Amino acid sequence: MRLKDKVAVITGAGGGLGREFAFTLAGEGAHIAATDLDIDLLDDVVPGVKKLGRECKTYKMDVSNKASVTETMVDIYNTFGHIDILVNNAGGSLYTPKITEEITEEHWYKVLDVNLKGTFLCSQAVVQYMIKQKSGKIINVASIGGRTASIVTGVPYASAKGGIISLTRRMALEFGPYGINVNAIAPGTVLSGQRMINLWNELNEEQKKAILSSIPLGRLSTAREQATVVIFLASDDASYITGAIIDVNGGRFMS
Ligand SMILES: NC(=O)c1ccc[n+]([C@@H]2O[C@H](COP(=O)([O-])OP(=O)(O)OC[C@H]3O[C@@H](n4cnc5c(N)ncnc54)[C@H](O)[C@@H]3O)[C@@H](O)[C@H]2O)c1
Repeated sequence: MRLKDKVAVITGAGGGLGREFAFTLAGEGAHIAATDLDIDLLDDVVPGVKKLGRECKTYKMDVSNKASVTETMVDIYNTFGHIDILVNNAGGSLYTPKITEEITEEHWYKVLDVNLKGTFLCSQAVVQYMIKQKSGKIINVASIGGRTASIVTGVPYASAKGGIISLTRRMALEFGPYGINVNAIAPGTVLSGQRMINLWNELNEEQKKAILSSIPLGRLSTAREQATVVIFLASDDASYITGAIIDVNGGRFMS
């Protein structure tokens, strides 16, 4: 129970990784504010968290829209009385093309707005509470795609996740004096939900083999293997870690 009675806000909590984060954080004692653009995806997150004896409230929130983020964070704070942990998880390549010639300006903004701007807006909205509390943990979900070139995703995604890595370090600098830790995980490929299963299935056997053979541990990640690192960063076990990017990629990229 490393997170007993902490309140954790998770964005994109209806997705493959987001729901795993909700269940794993709740398993360590946190109450969960589960948010997603598609609130229907959160229907089965509530009973899963409640089964673990923790509170779970759901919120429809578009991370790329400042009004939606501000309104939702106020609502969460008023309901729970504090916000201790923010997991900026909403994102992905959002079904945009990988090939640069096929990427429109709309695709570019969609990917940048949800992944990068969303991480900024949600962090900006919660730090006021964390500053008041003189404590808080922000965990951003970057990607191996922001750490090194990857064939799995396109330029906007790589740019957005690279931006999240820089944002993480800069925010850690600014909020460290208030007792707020800001870190990121950079997952490798996780078959966490339909989006990733589709991306993986789009690859031919040769590409799959090339990816697997480039991973020293020889396999893709489970969602749980990402969630346990989020728990570590959200807990006091990581009290002296801030501005760090933790590669959770089976060794495919080593910094
Ligand atoms: N799965 C992987 O292999 C992998 C690898 C590296 C990084 N990541 C990152 O992990 C995070 C989660 O990935 P996933 O595989 O669970 O994806 P997913 O598609 O299963 O989940 C993403 C969730 O974000 C939500 N979302 C989309 N737009 C939103 C918006 N504007 N506002 C709020 N919510 C919105 C979706 O509704 C969905 O529930 C993403 O940031 C992704 O880039 C995933």
